[in-house]
Amino acid sequence: MYNSKITGLGFYVPDNVVTNDDLSKMMDTNNEWIIERTGIEERRWIPEGSEDTTAVMGAKAARIAIERSGLTKDDIDFIVFATLSPDYYFPGSGVQVQDMLDMPTIGAIDIRNQCSGFVYALSTADQFIKTGMYKNILVIGSEFHSSGLDKTTRGRGVSVLFGDGAGACVLSQTEDKSKGILSTHLHSEGKYADKLIVSSPSSTKWFPELVATEGKDLSYYPHMDGTFVFKHAIVRFSQAIMEGLSANNLTVDDLDMFIPHQANLRISQFVQHKFKLSDDQIYSNIMKYGNTTAASIIIALTEAWEKGKIKDDDLIVLAAFGSGFTWGSAVIRW
Ligand code: UT7
Repeated sequence: MYNSKITGLGFYVPDNVVTNDDLSKMMDTNNEWIIERTGIEERRWIPEGSEDTTAVMGAKAARIAIERSGLTKDDIDFIVFATLSPDYYFPGSGVQVQDMLDMPTIGAIDIRNQCSGFVYALSTADQFIKTGMYKNILVIGSEFHSSGLDKTTRGRGVSVLFGDGAGACVLSQTEDKSKGILSTHLHSEGKYADKLIVSSPSSTKWFPELVATEGKDLSYYPHMDGTFVFKHAIVRFSQAIMEGLSANNLTVDDLDMFIPHQANLRISQFVQHKFKLSDDQIYSNIMKYGNTTAASIIIALTEAWEKGKIKDDDLIVLAAFGSGFTWGSAVIRW
């Protein structure tokens, strides 16, 4: 049996900064409300006319991760791409990256697990490496949210939260069992699917049906029961952390860095206080980027690593919760 470890990290966000004050010119919202409820100060939104898309941003982040891993694109055996906002209904964004990076005809899959997308993608890649099937896998999380948000007062409960961006890592085989991905745990509870959902267009409601409602059916915009999601998030985040640590006979005292999915600074602070984590034991960057869903953990991990906050032998826990509901954790010895 092999183990897998992260050997290269990269992220890319569009240059275009959208502040809370910018949003207040589009809808009835204000800086104070957004900061108090979410901690978000600004986010990046792809500007009109940009070449960036979910796949393009994913490829940009991937190039950096591959270069930092010391490998070349030709050393990558497989691509796992997590997103809820793919360029196309089909094919997935992973195959686009295979083409954009001019890679050999390796396999590529997309993971559709929203805010838990990166944890699911990492876990999927980890299994392929642990079985010995692949040696180096490109794992990407990328989202182009801003094109699909209701940027009017009607959509303010959701649209102020989300940002665009991408992160990527190279996961490589190692024979050192004490390093790398120690465990991943994944969960779902589909009975709450409608609490955070984009329900159309779908195979049961295609464009002609939507158009026939003459703008009355808005189910192509994200719908979220924010308070309900928040209450479940704080419980599931805590469970995900404990499950990962206990499976490895570790405790919160062993934790060097917790990187939560960046959904809401209040959720992260709740978890920080519950587990009595110091400010150095948790990384948050939602203030700058908003919620970038499948990209959020890998952007945060990359940024923390770039700032020197992640060192050799550190114990890192990643945890996510979101639409599905889905949630999960990854425990990593760096
Ligand atoms: O990443 C996937 C997982 N997602 C999450 O974990 C998100 C979880 N939920 C949340 O983070 C929070 O529920 C939100 C930040 C989305 C909302 O915060 P809240 O404290 O639950 O606010 P609320 O939805 O209960 O709304 C409170 C009030 C309402 O007004 P009334 O009914 O009290 O008069 C809203 O209409 O705030 C109003 N409101 C706004 N006001 C200004 C909602 N959105 C806005 C806005 N600006 N953008």
